[in-house]
Amino acid sequence: MLDNKTEEYLHALRDKHKIRILFVCLGNICRSPAAEGVMQSLVDSHDESRRFCIDSAGTANYHTGELPDKRMRVHAQRRGYDLTHHARQFKVSDFDDFDLILGMDDYNLSTLRSKARDEQDERKIMAMGKFISPIYHYDHVPDPYYEGSEGFELVLDLLEDATCNLYKQLS
Ligand code: 4NP
Repeated sequence: MLDNKTEEYLHALRDKHKIRILFVCLGNICRSPAAEGVMQSLVDSHDESRRFCIDSAGTANYHTGELPDKRMRVHAQRRGYDLTHHARQFKVSDFDDFDLILGMDDYNLSTLRSKARDEQDERKIMAMGKFISPIYHYDHVPDPYYEGSEGFELVLDLLEDATCNLYKQLS
């Protein structure tokens, strides 16, 4: 699942006063705002909201300013997540403002890597798929935009699993 270098980096973050996490997808209206909502809810449930700063962004700017896709909000709401993020595009200064930058799929990851200025930026970029339990047989979070409701449910299943595994690494 996680290589030694990644585990070391994550374990070092445990000592930080504040851990800053940015979830990134393409449009910032489906997967990454859902990841933000699920992770926020998880840290809130552990009374750890002060220890985490959680945000999301898209590599593209198609939907800047918009609330998450209505379908994503409806499916998330059914599981108790209220998604209120307004879409924004990823910016290079996010490398300074976050400790972890989690891309949902290979396309998002290669865009992020192309923007990294140095090794320190690169170290912060990780695949969300690395945190998905093997039982799911997914190494990425698939884009649900052109899918039906099963696609949105699958995204939420994968995100609940991956955020839980991420949280364990940071606790
Ligand atoms: P997301 O999904 O990257 O999970 O927010 C998408 C949202 C919008 C588009 C593609 C994917 N789009 O092509 O507009």
